[in-house]
Amino acid sequence: MTISFDRAADYYDSTRTLAPEVSERLTAEILRLGRATPETTFFEPGIGTGRVALPIVERGYAYTGVDVSEAMMDKLRQKIEGKAHRLTLIQADATDLPLEDNSFDVAIAPHILHLIADWPRAMDELRRVLKPSGVLIYFHHTTNKTATRDAVGQQWRQILAGYGHDSGFTGGVTEDVLGRLQEQGATLETVVVAELSRESTMGSLMQAYRDRIYSHMWRVPDDIYPQALADLEAWAAQEFPDLNISIASQDTITLTAAYHWAG
Ligand SMILES: C[S@@+](CC[C@H](N)C(=O)[O-])C[C@H]1O[C@@H](n2cnc3c(N)ncnc32)[C@H](O)[C@@H]1O
Repeated sequence: MTISFDRAADYYDSTRTLAPEVSERLTAEILRLGRATPETTFFEPGIGTGRVALPIVERGYAYTGVDVSEAMMDKLRQKIEGKAHRLTLIQADATDLPLEDNSFDVAIAPHILHLIADWPRAMDELRRVLKPSGVLIYFHHTTNKTATRDAVGQQWRQILAGYGHDSGFTGGVTEDVLGRLQEQGATLETVVVAELSRESTMGSLMQAYRDRIYSHMWRVPDDIYPQALADLEAWAAQEFPDLNISIASQDTITLTAAYHWAG
């Protein structure tokens, strides 16, 4: 199963944008962990609209990205139109890269492996296209949700189960990815890039369910979504009648560099 973000291309940046100072710090840490020199070549599977890639591309580095979604990559193409760059974009699946072995110095994997059922194969592909001296930089973003927000998620899963839908899909989550890297002999270095508070209300969370903003909502079959949503809204109206109730969350953005993995 492949989760293309075609449907999210028009709003993805508004849900995931990093503040300029966070983006600066992220870029600086990627360049440091990747021991970048002007000759360093970068690769990113699931490059999307270039949230992570663009600041590196704008610094003049050679960067190759693949994505199953042309619509997401089109947004990135628009951002670099008319500028000098060394960005190459290819429509391809991360589990089957149309790229030569030993091609890149640094591979970056942000927000992608958890979407891929066969994530071990995607990791094998990353390892294959990295040079033996190459570095993998895994980006993980954890959200510490309030109990209220957690309760909504639990209720949603319970409602979906009632309609026979198993919402338990996960691709490669952080534990899986770091565990595999360690099993395969990598030396890991982890750095916390940013701790962020995200303000949100029950009303905006319910709107996100109505608009089917997040990819876990796309996996729910269309024939059960409207009824499941109505059930969730009825439950929320009982439990949390005040739509302005805060469901702020704490996010942590972390990078883990894997050395001695590709060789
Ligand atoms: C959550 S977005 C992340 C985009 C970007 N890496 C970022 O951090 O903003 C995931 C991207 O991966 C793409 N994608 C999902 N599964 C993929 C696969 N198997 N192979 C290549 N791209 C994939 C989606 O189309 C989407 O653009």
